[in-house]
Amino acid sequence: MGNRIKVQLRTGAAFGVLFAVLGTGALLSAGVLAQTAPATPPPAQKPPPQGAMPNLNPATLPPGNAADGEALSATCAGCHGAAGLSSKPEFPRLAGQQPSYLSVQLLLYRAGIRKNEIMNKVAARLSDQNVSDLAAYFGGQAAGAAWSGQNPALAKEGAKLFALGSPERGVIACQVCHGTQGRGVNELGVALIRHQSSEYSTDVMHEFQKLGTTGSPQSTAMYLEMKPLSDHELEALSAYLAVMP
Ligand code: HEC
Ligand code: HEC
Repeated sequence: MGNRIKVQLRTGAAFGVLFAVLGTGALLSAGVLAQTAPATPPPAQKPPPQGAMPNLNPATLPPGNAADGEALSATCAGCHGAAGLSSKPEFPRLAGQQPSYLSVQLLLYRAGIRKNEIMNKVAARLSDQNVSDLAAYFGGQAAGAAWSGQNPALAKEGAKLFALGSPERGVIACQVCHGTQGRGVNELGVALIRHQSSEYSTDVMHEFQKLGTTGSPQSTAMYLEMKPLSDHELEALSAYLAVMP
């Protein structure tokens, strides 16, 4: 524990210094450019490659190093909580999440395909190695405990849908893919969903429903799954995920 805190502090300080240096560099070069601008206009920026497909296959990433991921995770803790155990309902928990799912989501945010202003910025700074290291670290943490304050009657309704689905509408039981405890499957890119906050789960399920895909080939499964469900059913499912045994 003492060690962990030390590592995080050191990394935080290192990042601070790095940003300070980069910031100063940018100011200096802006100053230099301003002075020399009349003679030579600044060279045009190299445009981003056109039509290049971002690599979204986690199997092509380098192997992850959990210790390096832990050091980097200090930059995530302000929102996602220490060790990825967010206690704020608007920030998803990362602890115990499947590494393949974590990697794909970070690659999607980095490529700007899964859209979220904060995470697009965060992921833009990550290398492939960083993505693997973070996925290895968070994936190796124990998943969080149940949330309190859920409506038990609503959660009970969600439990039924989770276990049985709604065959007459083509809604497959959630547990068929996510497992009876909602832990997901790493090899298949199926996310851990147990004890995620009901606020985040409701948001992300609406996103699948509305967008059709959040970018990964796997997310289409969730679109088809969510399409027939009502807002009330999504709330019932989220209430259950937050407290499920
Ligand atoms: C300033 C707050 C903030 C910081 C810092 C931050 N995140 Fe996030 N993160 C969010 C929010 C908000 C979401 C939900 C976005 C959405 O709905 O797409 C999110 C979503 C995610 C997701 C998707 C989770 C899921 O279950 O689908 C991953 C993975 C993630 N963040 C990883 C990280 C990592 C790794 C870091 C540190 C390198 C980090 N985040 C730093 C706010 C933050
Ligand atoms: C056919 C398989 C399948 C079924 C059935 C299924 N899921 Fe999923 N689910 C997935 C996959 C795969 C993902 C990861 C999608 C991605 O890559 O974005 C996922 C992602 C999710 C997420 C997002 C997790 C996160 O951290 O953002 C939630 C929430 C979720 N599922 C809830 C449910 C619920 C509730 C049900 C039942 C009504 C259900 N799923 C049924 C395959 C399935």
